[in-house]
Amino acid sequence: MLNTDESIAKLKNCTKCHFNAPTSMLVCHNKDECWVRKYDGALSSPVDAVIVTTYMMLACQNEGIGTCWVMHFDPVAMREMFGIPENTEPVALLVMGYSSDDAKPLDLHFKSRPIDETVFYDHFK
Ligand SMILES: Cc1cc2nc3c(=O)[nH]c(=O)nc-3n(C[C@H](O)[C@H](O)[C@H](O)COP(=O)(O)O)c2cc1C
Repeated sequence: MLNTDESIAKLKNCTKCHFNAPTSMLVCHNKDECWVRKYDGALSSPVDAVIVTTYMMLACQNEGIGTCWVMHFDPVAMREMFGIPENTEPVALLVMGYSSDDAKPLDLHFKSRPIDETVFYDHFK
């Protein structure tokens, strides 16, 4: 939870996408405390962290608080600023605040690719 003047100032060294949010949360996963798929070494923890982040966004919305998911941050700076240990990877920064009355989605929100370019039934083309 980043919501003090000091932590907000530190956050501004890590991302331009802080939007002057009064509160942000940095969701991380712990590489040493997760299930590992034996076939290829894939970790479950990044997936878990993404699921958690999604539910956090929904919970915030339920409380009338807007969020923006931010991936555009410098993970090295984030580690240095907040003393994040080696085994812990920052995944998603959720910047939070009350949305302005005229808040609206970006233009890309209204564009989508045809479904046959994104859903495949038995093979990839
Ligand atoms: C994985 C991921 C990373 C994102 N990173 C950023 C980011 O760094 N900066 C930002 O302003 N928005 C970021 N967003 C938010 C998107 O710009 C967008 O507002 C959000 O996904 C809503 O999408 P939609 O308009 O298509 O519903 C990110 C979203 C996702 C899912």
